[in-house]
Amino acid sequence: MICDNELLNIAKEASQLNYAPYSKFNVGACALFSSGEIYKGSNIENASYGLSLCAERNAISTGISNGETILKKIAIYSPNTILCYPCGACRQWIMEFSKNNDNDVVKVILEDKNNKIKVFTINELFPYCFKI
Ligand code: THU
Repeated sequence: MICDNELLNIAKEASQLNYAPYSKFNVGACALFSSGEIYKGSNIENASYGLSLCAERNAISTGISNGETILKKIAIYSPNTILCYPCGACRQWIMEFSKNNDNDVVKVILEDKNNKIKVFTINELFPYCFKI
């Protein structure tokens, strides 16, 4: 099983292949699914700012469109001095694909440019969330 540091390294690689000419805020994510496969994604912005796509949702949607169903972990790297906590929309997305996990625990692993690392469960980051 791939370790958290490897997921973070792949997220770091992804953060270098992003498109953020407007915010200049680089983000990379690496999603590990229950199959053991991983998928990376970066943030992709747009001149119509509201259409910008976060790295996490890019990585998750790539996994889902390749046949994955259950998310296990997501690593998020951003080369800034503050950790890039997932935005509200991404938390809802992470929760969506966490549903079938035992005990409902998906790990969210964060790293900043000073190699500070923090690990949370999605339940810690997004309690009392909307579910159907
Ligand atoms: N961004 C992410 O990729 N993930 C998040 O969870 C928060 C924000 C991106 C979106 C935008 O391209 C840039 O960071 C600044 O908001």
